[in-house]
Amino acid sequence: MRSHYCGEPGLAEVDETVELCGWVNRRRDHGGVIFIDLRDRSGLVQVVYDPDVEDVFATAEKVRTEYVLRVKGRVRRRPEGTVNPDISTGEIEVLGKELEILNAAKTPPFVLDDEDVSEELRLRYRYVDLRRPEMLQRMQLRSTVTRLLREYLDNKGFLDMETPMLTKATPEGARDYLVPSRTHAGKFFALPQSPQLFKQLLMMSGMDRYYQIVRCFRDEDLRADRQPEFTQLDVEMSFLDEEQIMQLMEEMIRGVFKGALDVDLPEPFPRMTWAEAMDRFGSDRPDLRCPLELVDVADLMESVDFKVFSGPAKDPDGRVAALRVPQGCKLSRKEIDDYTKYVGIYGARGLAYIKVNAWKEKGREGLQSPILKFLPDEAVNGIMERTGAEDGDLVFFGADKAAIVNEALGALRVKLGEDLGLMEGDWRPLWVVDFPMFEWDAGTKRWTSLHHPFTAPQEAHLELLESDPGACLSRAYDMVLNGTEVGGGSMRIHRAAVQAKVLKLLGIDEQEAQDKFGFLLHALEYGCPPHGGLAFGLDRLVMLMAGAHSIRDVMAFPKTQSASCLLTEAPSEVSPQQLRELSIRLRVPQKEKEVASD
Ligand code: AMO
Ligand code: AMP
Repeated sequence: MRSHYCGEPGLAEVDETVELCGWVNRRRDHGGVIFIDLRDRSGLVQVVYDPDVEDVFATAEKVRTEYVLRVKGRVRRRPEGTVNPDISTGEIEVLGKELEILNAAKTPPFVLDDEDVSEELRLRYRYVDLRRPEMLQRMQLRSTVTRLLREYLDNKGFLDMETPMLTKATPEGARDYLVPSRTHAGKFFALPQSPQLFKQLLMMSGMDRYYQIVRCFRDEDLRADRQPEFTQLDVEMSFLDEEQIMQLMEEMIRGVFKGALDVDLPEPFPRMTWAEAMDRFGSDRPDLRCPLELVDVADLMESVDFKVFSGPAKDPDGRVAALRVPQGCKLSRKEIDDYTKYVGIYGARGLAYIKVNAWKEKGREGLQSPILKFLPDEAVNGIMERTGAEDGDLVFFGADKAAIVNEALGALRVKLGEDLGLMEGDWRPLWVVDFPMFEWDAGTKRWTSLHHPFTAPQEAHLELLESDPGACLSRAYDMVLNGTEVGGGSMRIHRAAVQAKVLKLLGIDEQEAQDKFGFLLHALEYGCPPHGGLAFGLDRLVMLMAGAHSIRDVMAFPKTQSASCLLTEAPSEVSPQQLRELSIRLRVPQKEKEVASD
């Protein structure tokens, strides 16, 4: 139907006849001449209709925004002064000779280049939203990224293999999406939270190197970087250790950044232990673009006359930390109140601060703070020395359970970094290593896996599994980029006895273990190679690369924050007959209730 894409014709095509197809971006009537900006995936071209060919001109008059057209015309140089440097076809226009309306269109629900359209409207009319060049570019970037990933892995001998979608629960820490079985009444499949167990089985099958770009399903609280179904680049390999795996994976990511964005990431990526990351940044995915760091001051606060500080200072699970903000004195009362509200989201009960107005000259008289009266000279001197605070700075404090202080000040440092323009560098990748194997869940009073239960403990820590599980470190590694966890993985347990020990520690008894992943435990006994791997969140990676703020913006058809699809209106009710076939009776039988009350 066409000789060129709309974005292609240029000076080289002048005087040629071209045939183009696309959507009407805009139609302008300029006193007897009609201009149509015709758009397709490749760009825009201006088509001009003169009134001299009457019937064609009459058709052009009927055309409206988003109509689908087929155009035939002659390329000509644009008159002097009308060249548009912003588009690829800006030096030419097409003098229309024929015009066919392939399809009319209703007035679109929003103007494509309107920046302020609500996301709800965009999602409901996603097929229109995706016509916007910004969305198109993101989809193209995503396609480029997956192509580069595949090329790299294919070259390194990885096999692209599929794993089941209708399967058994894999514990990755979220709720499962369940699918009822018709043929096995009362039983359910789970959609995979990841292909974790299958990829391990593939290593046991001798596939040696596996990858898959695969959909994963997790029923969890959604955020800007979390969706109920999302895509992983999932990778697993045998007979390599974590050093080799990390090297391969960072080489791959460097290649993708170079290939897609022409960005050079550092070689090698820096590494940091989990403990150091928590200490300095209050987070296991620190954004290294922000130079602010947490400083422990608990020892200075143990005996101060302010319970809010002395309590956590003496509590082994507590933390008292300071955060120096260079030039923070200029923060207004209102701004400080807003930051106090902000840390409140993370459970902090307050945000004490000291403004360092004139420390050099006046000592503690030169400080301004609601808590100064509680602090003896010793503590003040210690704080000033340890934080390195100088005149003009401000020091924030967090005191609470360590988990709360870390979350609150960890988030605050990034927010301050952004608000005050302190972020340095564009791309700051990092490997976080030496994670603890377990964390204690005070609610359920049991150990839970920090990664998943198939993560191997460090060899030297095997004995800690029994004696001190909390001190036992794992062979896990996360790749972090600008404060987002883009990928994570580990060496796996490949010995049945160790796996049994770990499951027991997690409070999973033998029967439950057999019921849930007996197949894996058996497979471990039939020749399992040492193996490890990781999975990248493809959506998150592309979101960062695209400079988008939500993974929804790099997914063609995402779900809303409440896990529904506005376009298809899924999830939706099903017929009583479907339910009967699945042997399911609803606890809230909406339809029947309505019938009953009629
Ligand atoms: P993990 O649970 O860390 O590991 O997931 C790997 C990566 O997937 C991304 N991710 C998500 N992206 C969008 N929405 C979500 N709800 C979501 N959840 C996770 C993150 C994360 O780093 N089987 C292991 C990997 C392994 O050990 O090989 C796993 O799934 O970027
Ligand atoms: P108050 O005595 O409650 O007025 O608190 C004095 C100062 O300490 C205020 O600036 C509070 O914001 C701050 N504050 C209260 N609780 C905490 C906490 N848990 N961590 C840090 N600062 C706090």
